[in-house]
Amino acid sequence: MDHFDIRDGVMHAEGVSLETLAAEVGTPFYCYSTATIERHYRVFADAVAGLGDGNPLVAFAVKANPNLSVLATLARMGAGADVVSGGELARALAAGVPANRIVFSGVGKQPHEMAAGIDAGILQFNVESEAEIGMLAAVAATRGVRVDMAIRVNPAVNPGTHAKISTGGQDSKFGIPIERCHAAFVTAAGHASLNPIGVAAHIGSQLTDLSPIESCIGRLGELAAGLRAAGHPVDRIDVGGGLGVPYRADQPAPPEPAVYAAMVARATKGWNCRLMFEPGRMIVGNAGVMVAGVILVKEGTTKTFVVTDAGMNDLLRPSLYGAWHDIRALRPVAGRMTATVVGPVCESGDTFADDREMEPVGAGDRIAFMTAGAYGATMASTYNSRPLVPEVMVSGDRWAIVSERNQPAAMLALDALAPWL
Ligand code: LLP
Repeated sequence: MDHFDIRDGVMHAEGVSLETLAAEVGTPFYCYSTATIERHYRVFADAVAGLGDGNPLVAFAVKANPNLSVLATLARMGAGADVVSGGELARALAAGVPANRIVFSGVGKQPHEMAAGIDAGILQFNVESEAEIGMLAAVAATRGVRVDMAIRVNPAVNPGTHAKISTGGQDSKFGIPIERCHAAFVTAAGHASLNPIGVAAHIGSQLTDLSPIESCIGRLGELAAGLRAAGHPVDRIDVGGGLGVPYRADQPAPPEPAVYAAMVARATKGWNCRLMFEPGRMIVGNAGVMVAGVILVKEGTTKTFVVTDAGMNDLLRPSLYGAWHDIRALRPVAGRMTATVVGPVCESGDTFADDREMEPVGAGDRIAFMTAGAYGATMASTYNSRPLVPEVMVSGDRWAIVSERNQPAAMLALDALAPWL
């Protein structure tokens, strides 16, 4: 479900023509639909509302889309935030997410980032190693506070997703191997500055099958039961994010939030604790598109290349994961073409789609890469000294640039000539 439709022959984001935006902002750019973000958050939050102790926390995974306006939209709806760096923490706070709804995850938090979280008064740290327990205890002690933390478990569950976005397998850097988690919790409880209060897991992203999540939750439950039996309070269980979104119409759609929630309800029945969720992609994935211009169409020996003014530096997912994004014309015309859609970056991997059957487009036309709201602009870079792609947000018939395109002169100004040159 999204709010990108063809009206009067032109793709609109809610009430705003993407052609108008392209003329005003220039291409490429990302465009987000407020109504879609709000709807997805509402559907997810409503689905999990009664679970656990009846006070679940939905902490949006900021990494999926850290744009300030996106975060502020979610903060107004009551979302919390799952952050993995001092930068994400600062963004979540600036967007108005209350500190007591912020969870700090990540395998390599640095002391200054821990201190920033503690000073802000965040809800909890999800600790990913025995070494980190000692680090967090030391930082908390220097601040004179006792911080709430959960042990992030590596449950050794294969989520059955792309290897690069799988985080719960035995060889993964994430979490503490489950067989050591009880001992880690006890170690944490031995630090006066730590208050271990929960267990957490996140096994991977773009999951389309719920059974790995269900087995992961089962393992968290066994761990929690063992800890409780040993007299440790386990009041919070964080089941992570990971629910997939539909990228392709010709593939089965991932489970709906209501189906996911029913599974969680079943798997956590009688646990009597606060449940925490960290959805990212499913909130914002379908809420964004990347609009690009077609520079030219080039006939190769065996392929027709559509060369766009967006490159892999603007939308990395296809080159990094072989990810599929539907590509649509902003002004669709009758017929089909088969084209390999590429960017201008000097890498063969700068390919968005290979021999894709799509709506016919030619030089000067504009296209939209669909389902680009999650892990899109945030993974952009300035490779090939290209300006960072701007972001636009639409709400009804209003729109605003919510992240500017940085200019070549500004990028150059960050460099300095070494004094000997
Ligand atoms: N919680 C933790 C601890 C995570 O590491 C992640 C994602 C999430 C929550 C949110 O997962 P989601 O609900 O969005 O699946 N760049 C990749 C995705 C990397 C996901 C990393 N962790 C992509 O473009 O597919």
